Amino acid sequence: MRKKIVAGNWKMNMNKAEANALFNDINGFEIPEGINVVVAPPSLYLTQFAVTNSKLKLASQNVSHEMNGAFTGEISAEMLSSIDLTYSIVGHSERRAYNGENDKLISKKIDSLLSYNLTPIYCCGELKSDRESENHENVVETQIKEALFHLSNDQISCIIIAYEPVWAIGTGLTASAKDAQQMHAHIRIVIAKKYGSDIAENISILYGGSCKPENAKELFSQSDIDGGLIGGAALNADSFKEIIYSF
Ligand code: 13P
Repeated sequence: MRKKIVAGNWKMNMNKAEANALFNDINGFEIPEGINVVVAPPSLYLTQFAVTNSKLKLASQNVSHEMNGAFTGEISAEMLSSIDLTYSIVGHSERRAYNGENDKLISKKIDSLLSYNLTPIYCCGELKSDRESENHENVVETQIKEALFHLSNDQISCIIIAYEPVWAIGTGLTASAKDAQQMHAHIRIVIAKKYGSDIAENISILYGGSCKPENAKELFSQSDIDGGLIGGAALNADSFKEIIYSF
C-alpha cells in the first residue's frame, strides 16, 4: 500500500541550537495514524537527533554516488546506513542546478542507497520554460526513465518519488492541485507502462514546491498525491504540523 508521507527538507538552514529546538518540537508531535513524517536536516545534525517518535524518521539531503575513498566532503551510503538512517533525498533540483547533477549520476546514488537498504526520495520536476512550452510531461518522463528504469521490480518498489516543479520551489508559486495531480498521474502511468500497474499504484509520489498550510489540504486530497516534500514551511514547527494534519 502507498505510504502517506510529509517530509521536511531543511536545506542549508538552522544553527545547532535552532535545529535542536525544531527537531524536539517535531519529535513531540502527535502524528496521526497512517502518516509518516520525515525530517531531512543538514547532515551534520543527523547523529545528534534522538528520534523517539515511532512515526518520525530522518533523511539525508544527499549521498555520494561513490561507495568510499578519496572524495573530500562527501558522505557515503554506507555511512548513512551505519547511523541507521531510513531515507535519503537524491536529485533535488538545487543539486542539479548548483552542483551539476544529472540523472545518470543520480541513478548511481540511487544504486548505492539501495545496496544499503536505504530508501531514496527521488526528486524530479520541470523548469518554468518546460511548462510554458508544454513540454513538462516529457521532461519529467525522461528524468524518471534515466534515473529509475534500470531498477528491478523489487528495487523500484522501494523508491519514493517527489515531483517538485522547479518554478514552484521557494517562489511562493504552487502548481495548482489540478496541474500537480495531472503530473503525478502521468508519472504513475510512465511507471505502470514499464513495471505494471500494481507496482505503480504502490509507489508514493510526493508534491514539493511552495507547499504550505494554505494549500496542503487541496494538494493532498488529489488521488495521486501521497504527501509533500516541504521546504520553507518545514522550518517552522507550527506550519509543518499544520501540513501534517492536512490529510
Ligand atoms: P519550498 O517548499 O520552500 O518551495 O521548497 C520545496 C523543496 O525544494 C523541498 O525539497
